Amino acid sequence: MPFPAVELLRCPVCRNGWDGSKSSERTLVCASEHRFDAARQGYVNFLTGRGTRFLPDSAEMVAARERFLATGSYAPIARALADACAAATAGDDDGGSGPRAILDVGAGTGYYLDALLERMPGSRAVALDISKFALRRAAKLPRTAAVVWDVWRELPLEDASLDLVVDVFAPRNFPEFARALRSGGAACIVTPSPDHLAALRGLLPMLDVPTGKAEAVATSAGPEFEAASVRLVRFPLVLTREAAADLAVMGPAGHHSSRETILSLLGEDQVQTEGVVEITVLRRR
Ligand SMILES: C[S@@+](CC[C@H](N)C(=O)[O-])C[C@H]1O[C@@H](n2cnc3c(N)ncnc32)[C@H](O)[C@@H]1O
Ligand SMILES: [Zn+2]
Repeated sequence: MPFPAVELLRCPVCRNGWDGSKSSERTLVCASEHRFDAARQGYVNFLTGRGTRFLPDSAEMVAARERFLATGSYAPIARALADACAAATAGDDDGGSGPRAILDVGAGTGYYLDALLERMPGSRAVALDISKFALRRAAKLPRTAAVVWDVWRELPLEDASLDLVVDVFAPRNFPEFARALRSGGAACIVTPSPDHLAALRGLLPMLDVPTGKAEAVATSAGPEFEAASVRLVRFPLVLTREAAADLAVMGPAGHHSSRETILSLLGEDQVQTEGVVEITVLRRR
């Protein structure tokens, strides 16, 4: 068996494709003999020997993310994103609505990609993240290459190979998204609105305040993209204190605040807040 979605990947060192006679489900060997072994959990680390100046999510942060997402609290985001992506790729330039080639940037545990693959049966995907702990989960998704990589580097993807890039609360490298997307392909970007989790942020001052990120998305995308649509997703969240703590720890606060500190600030009651995010759809010209 070949490595999943291998045809979407290229060697991060020399940009060559893979030597099919030397590569397998467990090993990728490029035409210039650069070799990458998959970890036991199925992801492949292309960053070996390079390191990155970005701090990957820790095992604790990823465990908190997995517990929180399993509560279904963010299911409205997953549904709305799947709707937006299906709509963005259904009637585009190639006229088809068959399986798609998808990149999920900062895929984390693969929660959103899972929903997308269900909505677009037969699609192939690359789940990219700098956290190997996150990708241990994402690597279990069907037809998905889980790749440890830093999105601020040239992506290990062929030119014009993708129909869809999704990016949920993760960094965005638009010049590279533009290179890897085919003309007519779409980028679906989820960003928090300024009032996202406002009541929770009132209790936990260490949570980042999102400021006007959604407007910045379309302007920062550059001339290769045209804005297609923006959807607002607003939904109530009633959280146990444990779920609220997981929600805090799974984000940037998890890098510098412990779960115990966060729980001590939350009191004993449920937390009522609101999720408010925007899904910006951009079309590759
Ligand atoms: C807020 S989390 C969102 C994860 C996932 N999209 C979700 O919503 O469940 C941001 C993700 O981006 C990843 N990330 C941060 N900086 C990155 C970088 N420079 N390159 C690749 N991934 C990065 C983190 O490891 C983390 O999994
Ligand atoms: Zn190579």
